[in-house]
Amino acid sequence: MTSPLPPGATIGILGGGQLGRMAALAASDLGYKCHIFSPDADAPAKEVSGAQTTAPYEDLDAARKFAQSVDVVTFEFENVPDDVLAVISELSPVRPSAEALHVSQDRQTEKAFINRLGISTAPWAPVLEQSDLSTAAAQTGFPAILKTARLGYDGKGQVRVDAKSDLMAAWTSIGKMPSVLEGFVDFEREISVIVARSVESKTESYVPVDNVHKDHILYSTSAPSSVSEEIGEKAKQIADKIVTALNLVGLLAVEMFVMRDGSVLVNEIAPRPHNSGHWTMDACAASQFEQFIRAVVGLPLRDPSRHSNAVMTNLIGYEADRWKDLAGEASTCLHLYGKANALPGRKMGHVTRLFPAKGCT
Ligand SMILES: Nc1ncnc2c1ncn2[C@@H]1O[C@H](COP(=O)(O)OP(=O)(O)O)[C@@H](O)[C@H]1O
Ligand SMILES: [Mg+2]
Repeated sequence: MTSPLPPGATIGILGGGQLGRMAALAASDLGYKCHIFSPDADAPAKEVSGAQTTAPYEDLDAARKFAQSVDVVTFEFENVPDDVLAVISELSPVRPSAEALHVSQDRQTEKAFINRLGISTAPWAPVLEQSDLSTAAAQTGFPAILKTARLGYDGKGQVRVDAKSDLMAAWTSIGKMPSVLEGFVDFEREISVIVARSVESKTESYVPVDNVHKDHILYSTSAPSSVSEEIGEKAKQIADKIVTALNLVGLLAVEMFVMRDGSVLVNEIAPRPHNSGHWTMDACAASQFEQFIRAVVGLPLRDPSRHSNAVMTNLIGYEADRWKDLAGEASTCLHLYGKANALPGRKMGHVTRLFPAKGCT
């Protein structure tokens, strides 16, 4: 049995956004220090952490120094280049491992991995060059969505394609990057499951939740999902199967589409805390961020059950200007990320409204 890192040890986090900020706060609660590596000097996570490196993710020297100065490395941003990951992995334990990260960095490897496990996705086909477009479309049909294989988030790097005649324009609009073409699925709802996996291979998942997106950005999460127990169980089993197959130590979020016939398709996975898990900060004794830190330092996981049902709503762009009113609502849990500029589409904070319930699990 590997012994856990003792309090006082330093967790290195690659990425400096709100996920890193909330993870650093959870780490601090358990007595750990954090060192944040990100290119942005004003990163939200740096404000709440004792040590910072400001350098591009491609800076091998900075990555080397960073890895030497911490006791374990983790991520809140999974798109770190492979050569940097290799350098870091030589100098420090990395959780989740570079291999687990590698799978989820690219939509092609991700979907192929999921399908190999016998888990369904929307129909998809890789597009590496222009000549792949029509063969891919023959597999997916229309409407479809063309998504860049790498670096997409909040709907960035995606475009809907309604007909064969739109394929070329879509390909141009995403910069002719390696991509996947995906059949547009008429889902009944979107759900997600967040599962933690410990150094000792134990898994604990939060209850499946319902997610509503607006303009491709998560707008709200309701916990628990109102899917049937059977579908909820299926969703949990899918998340468990993926996290185990990845041999991932840390946290995995699995976004899924529930179809009208009750079947469940995996949309994408994220090997880190996830926006659809923010409700756990207020509605569970152990938040996704605490679970994440526990997995990364080698502590046992906690019981992920909830004491309340919850609805989490993101504050996007100028919505955060309502902070005074929101702060005045007695039953609303307000979380702001300390970002200076409320640009459109930028996640500035979130609120969670609790509905204490009997028999919550
Ligand atoms: N194949 C699809 N069919 C229908 N809707 C989709 C499909 N792919 C994505 N979407 C919608 O777009 C949202 C964002 O897409 P996703 O692949 O999760 O990218 P991101 O990395 O930006 O979160 C999804 O949550 C869903 O609402
Ligand atoms: Mg998504």
